[in-house]
Amino acid sequence: MSGKIQEAVKAIEAKMKNKPKVGIVLGSGLGDFVDAIENKTVISYDDIPHFGQTTVVGHSGQLILGTVKGVEVAVMQGRFHFYEGRTMEEVVLPVRTLAGLGIESIILTNAAGGINLSFTQGDLVCIEDQINFMGQNPLIGPNDESVGPRFPDMTYAYDPELRAILKDVAKNQGLDLKTGVYVGVLGPTYETPAEIRMFRTLGADMVGMSTVPECIAANHMGLKVCGISCVTNMAAGIEATKLMHEDIKEQALKIMQKFTNLLVDSVAKIGQLSK
Ligand code: HPA
Repeated sequence: MSGKIQEAVKAIEAKMKNKPKVGIVLGSGLGDFVDAIENKTVISYDDIPHFGQTTVVGHSGQLILGTVKGVEVAVMQGRFHFYEGRTMEEVVLPVRTLAGLGIESIILTNAAGGINLSFTQGDLVCIEDQINFMGQNPLIGPNDESVGPRFPDMTYAYDPELRAILKDVAKNQGLDLKTGVYVGVLGPTYETPAEIRMFRTLGADMVGMSTVPECIAANHMGLKVCGISCVTNMAAGIEATKLMHEDIKEQALKIMQKFTNLLVDSVAKIGQLSK
């Protein structure tokens, strides 16, 4: 695996001007954030060894290098999901590649279903912690000690300092940023109402089909991680309606402006942290 990371890193470095400090992974329908990036270099996933294209509508499949408020960023517009038939290694390759490029912090974003009944469609949530309900782990298999330790600690999977920055930025913007635990499921079916009741009992506040493996791989490589969920819908059974990917994408677009504002100012602050 480390060979694949190195090859991907090399191909990107050949086109890269400056080393990125902050990495961002954009979730379903949240790709328009890239409009806020300046001095862009755009690299299609087709041109990065071992990446391949994404298969999900709403995921573009390109890496954007550039600056946000003067901070060097590397932004993954489009991610790989396990339900696409990718291996876990492939799912986390983009995050591992960003780490290989030299980022110190990573912001994982996603569209999620709201489980916590105090949430509403359109809310932004700072991910406080996660539950891996995927029955999978990207670290299964022999461990490459040059990449990270065999048994990584996950006590601070979502870095307290980064979470405090998100909260602080939101407060300054007058944005009601919620806090919650994200449960990662395999998909691609949405959940049943019974599953959602179970997840609520287990302590989850929102549900989605991504992020969890990426957070694990990022922690494995010693990155500081934070995450933002966009509640594109209340989870199954909470409202008397069916869940449709089209509606969920549309809702993500509606949240775009406040999502972008939160991300831009947070990147500016996170970029100032020393290592
Ligand atoms: N469940 C799982 N993933 C999701 C949802 C959901 O309700 N909404 C957006 N992504």
